[in-house]
Amino acid sequence: MTTTQKSSNTVWHHATVTRQRRAELNHHHSIVLWFTGLSGAGKSTLAHALEERLYQMKYHTFVLDGDNVRHGLNGDLGFSDKDRVENIRRISEVAKLFLEAGVIILTAFISPFRADRNRARSLVGKDFVEIYCECPLDVCEQRDVKGLYRRARAGEIKEFTGISSPYESPENPELSINTSGKNVDECVDQILAYLVQRGVYKPAASA
Ligand SMILES: Nc1ncnc2c1ncn2[C@@H]1O[C@H](COP(=O)(O)OP(=O)(O)OP(=O)(O)O)[C@@H](O)[C@H]1O
Ligand SMILES: [Mg+2]
Repeated sequence: MTTTQKSSNTVWHHATVTRQRRAELNHHHSIVLWFTGLSGAGKSTLAHALEERLYQMKYHTFVLDGDNVRHGLNGDLGFSDKDRVENIRRISEVAKLFLEAGVIILTAFISPFRADRNRARSLVGKDFVEIYCECPLDVCEQRDVKGLYRRARAGEIKEFTGISSPYESPENPELSINTSGKNVDECVDQILAYLVQRGVYKPAASA
């Protein structure tokens, strides 16, 4: 991801408290879990349910959720192509900071464009896990958690993902979760099983 560096004369200061040392203190590694999928596919539900399970096991976590971030950090951004790119760029940078801070970071953004997700992946590196919340549009629309599909169909919301703006599904996500065929607990178990494989989660011993 390239951005114009406007601040000159800056020198990176290396911390003595490294990511590795934080992992030793926390008794677990950090990772970025990047949830993607249509509105209503279950990104927020799964991210928070997973966080709850991890919290109970004393893991350090944080959820970056779509609308919340647009209220604050990205409150100056709209939905133009340029702003969408910047939205994801800032989120990726924040996710990377959390990674360094030793936290399991869960992001819950539609992030509909492959190019944006790939930029996030290349910025974060090997600890980027793309989790595709796979759910047919008609199921999402039936759920209509926020009433946005109804409004989009009525023409009240322009460029709504799945209706009037594309969703580019991941080609090679680390995890694909079928949220219309399983309940929330089963989906969380699927992610936890993956985290065991990655050496981030140890089910037997509480961290
Ligand atoms: N297996 C499942 N996983 C996740 N959510 C599920 C599942 N089964 C049913 N649901 C329901 O689907 C809805 C998902 O809504 P949620 O707000 O999590 O979607 P979202 O992907 O975060 O959408 P948005 O992009 O608009 O924020 C919730 O009402 C949830 O209870
Ligand atoms: Mg959400």
